Amino acid sequence: MSLDTRTTTAGAGAPLIDLDHIVVEFGHGRNRFRAVDDVSLTIRKGSIYGIIGFSGAGKSTLVRTMNVLQRPTSGTVTFNGADIGALSESRLLPLRRKIAMIFQHFNLMPSRTVLDNVTLPLIHEKISKRDARAKAMHLLELVGIADKAKAYPRQLSGGQQQRVAIARALIGDPEVLLCDEATSALDPRTTRSILALLKDLNERLGLTIVLITHQMQVVKDICTDLAVMSHGRVVDSGSILDVFDHPSSELTREFIYTSGNMNKGITLMQTHPLFAREREAGHVYLLSSVGSGAEETLMADAHDRFGVTGNIMFGNVDVIHNTPVGMILVSLDGPDAAIDNALAYFKSVGVGATPLAELHVNESEENETPAADAATASERGDDNE
Ligand SMILES: Nc1ncnc2c1ncn2[C@@H]1O[C@H](COP(=O)(O)OP(=O)(O)OP(=O)(O)O)[C@@H](O)[C@H]1O
Ligand SMILES: [Mg+2]
Repeated sequence: MSLDTRTTTAGAGAPLIDLDHIVVEFGHGRNRFRAVDDVSLTIRKGSIYGIIGFSGAGKSTLVRTMNVLQRPTSGTVTFNGADIGALSESRLLPLRRKIAMIFQHFNLMPSRTVLDNVTLPLIHEKISKRDARAKAMHLLELVGIADKAKAYPRQLSGGQQQRVAIARALIGDPEVLLCDEATSALDPRTTRSILALLKDLNERLGLTIVLITHQMQVVKDICTDLAVMSHGRVVDSGSILDVFDHPSSELTREFIYTSGNMNKGITLMQTHPLFAREREAGHVYLLSSVGSGAEETLMADAHDRFGVTGNIMFGNVDVIHNTPVGMILVSLDGPDAAIDNALAYFKSVGVGATPLAELHVNESEENETPAADAATASERGDDNE
């Protein structure tokens, strides 16, 4: 299908962080456990790189190798062309200001004011207190919370606290901001405002962002690139539109259906007695397309060209980077040979067709990814930096 409406910046910049065959193992002997299993990926300058996966997939562990909070068992971590995986802790400290990180629970110092929290990373720097405070005030203005400079963290809402954490992360002029479920503790509206802030920082400062999330909606809203993790491995990666257009794993497809609210329709079609007739006829398909054009006249074309009628049961359209991403569940009707021809035609115009029986969904979630309720590994204390 025509991809000319794509305006993603994915892949535009030079490599900033390069992970090459990263393995992270915990424990010893029989208790040895491989949390990250041979992952290679490249984060390019200026991108917003989403990492999504079930709880325990290894997302936090992987992202923590990017600023070497977690040393890889094997493999290479390259930042701006330099191998940083084996640097001493003292040499890593200044580097971590360039590869800053924010967390789900903000991790602010409760006994210090907002302003002092933001200046904290500069404590060992050769910068006067006055200049540090001026810089911090500037950043608090940038993140829209300058009026709270003298407040204490407990006096702020979650969204406000995350803004402070972002300002604190920015004080070392980072090139990249690693966000480990930075919006998971926030309500949907506050989530949107923090995402808008991250996108704004990406555009205004050229800040590269790596963003772990459970919510595909977050990915669709701001990410240029996406990696899907499962059992320590990356099972899909690339520009978000490419991943949506050609998901290679079952898990990625599941995330995509769920985020498009198609899971409910799929489950109903697969199980509800109301749809027994369509189900038994065996001609229910999920049609999916990325890009504009063919899908608009698809059913009319199927009828005019092949005498196949299509009854649309459920549908969803998203717009990602100005590109329509559509999914419909249709029940096709006509002679078997005509349906085969129609399916071949769909394929030729770039519309994917997956039979109902081959669709796998998670039934417990409607608007979020299958792991939306499972922030347990982070709660366990991954983010106590
Ligand atoms: N320090 C550690 N020691 C032992 N095992 C660990 C350690 N850190 C993580 N693990 C294990 O590694 C696996 C991956 O954990 P990780 O926190 O990276 O997952 P995650 O994808 O971030 O999960 P979540 O979405 O719940 O935050 C899990 O099975 C976890 O229990
Ligand atoms: Mg995690």
